[in-house]
Amino acid sequence: MALNLIIMGPPGAGKGTQAELLARAHGIPKVSTGDMLREAVQAGTELGRRAKAIMDAGSLVGDDIVIGVVQERLDRPDARRGFVLDGFPRTVPQARALDAMLTGRDPLIVLNIVVPDAELVRRLLARRVCEGCGAVYGTTDTNVADRCRRCGGVLTQRSDDNEEVVRERLRVYERETRPLVEYYQDRPTFRPIDGAQVPENVARAVAAAVDSAAGLTADDGTPVGRDI
Ligand code: AP5
Repeated sequence: MALNLIIMGPPGAGKGTQAELLARAHGIPKVSTGDMLREAVQAGTELGRRAKAIMDAGSLVGDDIVIGVVQERLDRPDARRGFVLDGFPRTVPQARALDAMLTGRDPLIVLNIVVPDAELVRRLLARRVCEGCGAVYGTTDTNVADRCRRCGGVLTQRSDDNEEVVRERLRVYERETRPLVEYYQDRPTFRPIDGAQVPENVARAVAAAVDSAAGLTADDGTPVGRDI
C-alpha cells in the first residue's frame, strides 16, 4: 500500500521539519509547494517571477498554478509508492483537486499539526535557512551561529519571515486554510497532532498517528468508513 500523506498546519507548525523526517523514514518523496515555489524564484523561471511578490506579501499563489505543479509531481513514478505533501492543499479548491487527482490511488492520511499562535511567531522569527543546502535551523538548535553545521554555508532568513508578513500569513491561514480541518476531519484517517512539544516528541506522535491511520487501510486497501 502506498503511504499518501498530507501534513497540514499553520506557518511555523513544523510541517517541513516533520515531512522531511517522514519522507526519509519511509523512502517516499517530500512534496513541498513552498520549496518548489522558492526553487522557481531562485531559478528565475516564469513561475518564480509570478510567485515572488505574492510570497513576499504572505498571500497565496493562485490555485490553478499550484494544482498544476502538484499534479505534475504526483504523476511521477517515485510518487506512485507514496508521498508526503507539505503546504498543499491550502484551500478548499486545492483539496477538491487533490481528491480528484488521487482517484483510484490509496487513501490519504491527513495529519494536522496544532501549535499556539505566539509560539508560531516566535519560531518563524527565529528560523534560519542555509543558503547552500537548505538546512533549516530553529530555536531548539544549539550552537547555531551564522554558518551551517552541515555544509558551512551562510545562514539567512526567509524573505517572508519578518513580523509583518508572518502576521499576514497567519491571517491568510485562518481565512483560507483552517477550513480544510472541517473538510478532512470526518475522515477515519484524519489525525490531530500536538505540535507544541520538542521536535523529537512531535515526530513520535506523527509516527504513531501514521501507523494507526495506515492500519485502518492496510488489510485490503479499502479505508474504513467514508470513501476517500
Ligand atoms: P510554505 O513554505 O509552505 O510556508 P508555511 O506554510 O508558511 O510554512 P513554513 O515553511 O513557514 O513552516 P513549517 O510549518 O514548514 O515549519 P518548519 O518545519 O519550517 O509557503 C510559503 C509561501 O509559498 C506561502 O506563503 C504562499 O505564498 C506560497 N505557497 C506555498 N504553498 C502554497 C499553496 N499550496 N497554495 C498557494 N500558495 C502556496 O519549522 C519552522 C521553524 O520552527 C524552524 O526554524 C524549525 O526548526 C522550528 N521548529 C520545527 N518544529 C519545532 C518544534 N517542535 N519545536 C520548536 N521549534 C520547531
